[in-house]
Amino acid sequence: LRVAVMVSGRGSNLQALLDAAAVPSYPVSIELVVSNVPDVQALERAGTAGIRTATVPHRDFDSREAFERKISAVLESAAPDLICQAGFMRILTPWFIERWHNRLINIHPSLLPAFPGLRTHEKALEAGVRLHGCTVHLVRTEVDSGPIIGQAAVPVSPEDTSESLAARVLRAEHKLYPTCLQLIAESHIRLGEDKVHFTGSFN
Ligand code: GRF
Repeated sequence: LRVAVMVSGRGSNLQALLDAAAVPSYPVSIELVVSNVPDVQALERAGTAGIRTATVPHRDFDSREAFERKISAVLESAAPDLICQAGFMRILTPWFIERWHNRLINIHPSLLPAFPGLRTHEKALEAGVRLHGCTVHLVRTEVDSGPIIGQAAVPVSPEDTSESLAARVLRAEHKLYPTCLQLIAESHIRLGEDKVHFTGSFN
């Protein structure tokens, strides 16, 4: 499975994917990492792993459309089967999302459909939930919606701050994202049609 990764910052999820892909038996290759922000840690991580990088700064473009056409062309150059958003912080237009329909996935730090948007860990603490977690899902035009590919839950402790909870969720993200890609690569999960199909029994 040929994958391109879209990033904007720290890139710890990217690192988890790079580490997984460094194992020869892992059925996924990271072909390209694209950032909309110059000089971020994610680009450094990709460089260290010897992966091709590109920066497409959204500030350099007059319109969202022009920015997305450029980023789309850069992605096309890597001939990806799948595009993974990993901490990519720009909202994408329906044009981009339709262009990569069923080939664009995202990781979100909550158990969707609970807590879409930003500040998910604060929201989870405010709501008093006892379980929180993360979701890998297909991207649809409505933000943080789209068919769910995989989820991982973590407990919320009464002592948690949003920082301690975020750290626990992040550790779960770093396992979930590589696992989801492996299941897709091995056709245990199929994204081909308009919903996610699961075959075999796994959890
Ligand atoms: C992660 O929590 C991810 O779920 C969210 O943004 C954060 C990115 O972190 N979409 P990183 O850049 O992967 O370290």
